[in-house]
Amino acid sequence: MAKAYDKLMRCYRSVKKKVKFQPKVALILGSGLGDYVKQVKVEAALDYSDIEGFPVSTVPGHKGRFVFGHVKGIPVVIMQGRVHYYEGYDMADVVLPVRLMKMMGAQVLFLTNAAGGVNENFHAGELMLIKDQISSFVPSPLIGPNMDKLGVRFPDMSEIYDKKLRALIKKTAKKLGIPLQKGVYLQLTGPAYESPAEIRMCRMLGADAVGMSTACEAVAANHMGMGICGISFISNLACGMTDQPLSHKEVQEAAERVAPLFERLVTESIAAIGKSLTEKE
Ligand code: HPA
Repeated sequence: MAKAYDKLMRCYRSVKKKVKFQPKVALILGSGLGDYVKQVKVEAALDYSDIEGFPVSTVPGHKGRFVFGHVKGIPVVIMQGRVHYYEGYDMADVVLPVRLMKMMGAQVLFLTNAAGGVNENFHAGELMLIKDQISSFVPSPLIGPNMDKLGVRFPDMSEIYDKKLRALIKKTAKKLGIPLQKGVYLQLTGPAYESPAEIRMCRMLGADAVGMSTACEAVAANHMGMGICGISFISNLACGMTDQPLSHKEVQEAAERVAPLFERLVTESIAAIGKSLTEKE
């Protein structure tokens, strides 16, 4: 089969040799949520650089690792540091960690990110449950020979973000008294933030939030038949909606301010998701 599949299998064998943990839920942490692992009962951790064949970052100071542990008794694998397309990786490498987490045993992928608010009714600091996405501006991670062992050539994308998982998260947010917007996430390549004209385009296309990750990961996960859910933290209103220029520092600081609330929602949602998975077994 394709080289990308061989690479994936090499990484998988390397992980299996080092870690015996079997997760049920895979969680990807977005900007500002890196400290989430402090709340997790950590069983093991594995630096990406210790996985044979794993795409190595070209960005100085970039580090990342898988953390294995329990959130409210649910076995999870957490990506602390994701791989972005704008760093220069091929799309197959960007989604390799997602594929690996599925192969480790994760049935559900929980995506988080920081995003710019495009919807005029949104405010900076809010959380948005992702109900659908637009990934048409980045190459599909499924381009190339199909990995038949993972999924079909032409996968259906009519419900990328699982309705039942969305309902569980909505219910959890309500229980915790955390306001939750709902909307469509649009992925652009970055790394530049958008221009005001690009944001008007995103809005015309039906986007509520814009960012530089997530949608490609969801496409790869959907191809493999994972249950997917995602929450965006609206760190700022997108370019042109206020008269302030954007900076990564501002995005990170905003994310860190809202992190405690976001973390509570993630923890309680994982507990509810884990319970629903157990009931299905
Ligand atoms: N645009 C793109 N990505 C982002 C933004 C934004 O405004 N905020 C946080 N991530």
